[in-house]
Amino acid sequence: MEKFIITQSPPLKGTVRVSGSKNAALPILAATLLTEAQCVIKDVPELLDVQRMEEYLQTFGADTQWQREKNKITVGVKKIASTEAPYPLACSMRASFLVMGPLLARAARVKIPLPGGCAIGARPVDQHLKGLAALGAEITQEHGMVYAKAKRLRGANIYLDFPSVGATENIMMAAVLARGRTIIENSAIEPEIVDLAGFLNAIGADVRGAGTDTIRINGVRGLRGGEYTIIPDRIEAGTFMVAAALTRGDVLIENIVADHLKPVAAKLKEANAAVEEAETGLQVRYVLRGRLKRADIKTLPYPGFPTDMQAQFMSLLALAEGTSIITETIFENRFMHVGELKRMGANIKIESRSAIVEGVEKLAGTQVRTTDLRAGAALILSGLIAEGETEIDDIYHIDRGYCKIEEKLRGLGAKIKRVSS
Ligand code: UD1
Repeated sequence: MEKFIITQSPPLKGTVRVSGSKNAALPILAATLLTEAQCVIKDVPELLDVQRMEEYLQTFGADTQWQREKNKITVGVKKIASTEAPYPLACSMRASFLVMGPLLARAARVKIPLPGGCAIGARPVDQHLKGLAALGAEITQEHGMVYAKAKRLRGANIYLDFPSVGATENIMMAAVLARGRTIIENSAIEPEIVDLAGFLNAIGADVRGAGTDTIRINGVRGLRGGEYTIIPDRIEAGTFMVAAALTRGDVLIENIVADHLKPVAAKLKEANAAVEEAETGLQVRYVLRGRLKRADIKTLPYPGFPTDMQAQFMSLLALAEGTSIITETIFENRFMHVGELKRMGANIKIESRSAIVEGVEKLAGTQVRTTDLRAGAALILSGLIAEGETEIDDIYHIDRGYCKIEEKLRGLGAKIKRVSS
């Protein structure tokens, strides 16, 4: 078991490079199951979830080679060796459900555990199943398992009740090999959806409209291999943006797509941080002027404020002047960090889906425990500014989605170390 020990740090200064996107890498890796040809995926972040996805793909017959020093994974799935998802790996991460569409399309059947709830909410998969059933899959559920089969999927019109990211991805992947045309309406429009479509098209699929709420897919008979570079991680970038503002630092964040960061930049500006695009167009500078100010936040599907940045912003607003209201509309239980932030001296009250944050002047370091990935990031951020020492347990949650976060923060002057307990 490892933990982070953080000592109150000076304002962060310098340059940090953001890694490739976790939430783009995971579906793209799942999509490699669609083709027997070799795919080379570049700018893959070195994360626990990526490692789990690599092992998971191997159980279906994938031959993988992860060159960590080059951030590159080569995957070849000549033959699907198994269509049964192994329970422990399938349950270790939500994204494991994303192999359902590809396996169904390529191997005509799949048996996969229903993902359970997780710390942040129940997270059902009804929209995934509805979409795959519309494509012709015969789906049954028994003893916590989902069984699906279909000789060859056929295109269909699918209207999602909610623009679910995972459901849009699963349906898109299944539809690329279906007979005829599929239209997904009310689809998710997150940048990671656009990236998945980019990869699918790079290996011969015909996907149009990704990034709008209507995606049109003309099924093809087979896919080839190819090389693809993953987009930068907008949530990692956003986390460093908050770190810069919260510590009153001045940080240049490289390898970003400024457009993907608009909702986060807008709220940082409201909170009194300066957010400027640097000359290259892909570099942004964050300089704080004066005390942080209150801001209200409501999480929404893209391009609204991302739920994956809610916890980190709460760390920032906990120290802002005035009262901020944070409303979480995507997940029903995503305030797990509140209790721990309160132990550090924050003044936060939860009322239904909102957190009322009364800004305080300072936080105090103590021993805290992380319950999920972004809650962990929030605790790191608070630890940077809290008086004294903050000890964070259960940091494997953080390793799921942040690549070498302590090294990157240390590069900016943060006092953070990883220790074995
Ligand atoms: C993805 C991201 C996650 C992010 C989330 C929302 C990955 C690996 N994870 O998760 O980091 O927080 O998008 O931006 O990309 N829902 C249903 N039925 C379904 C599917 C979803 O009710 O069939 C609900 C969920 O329980 C949740 C909401 O819809 O409350 C959003 O879920 P979804 O957009 O599917 O998120 P994920 O793909 O799980």
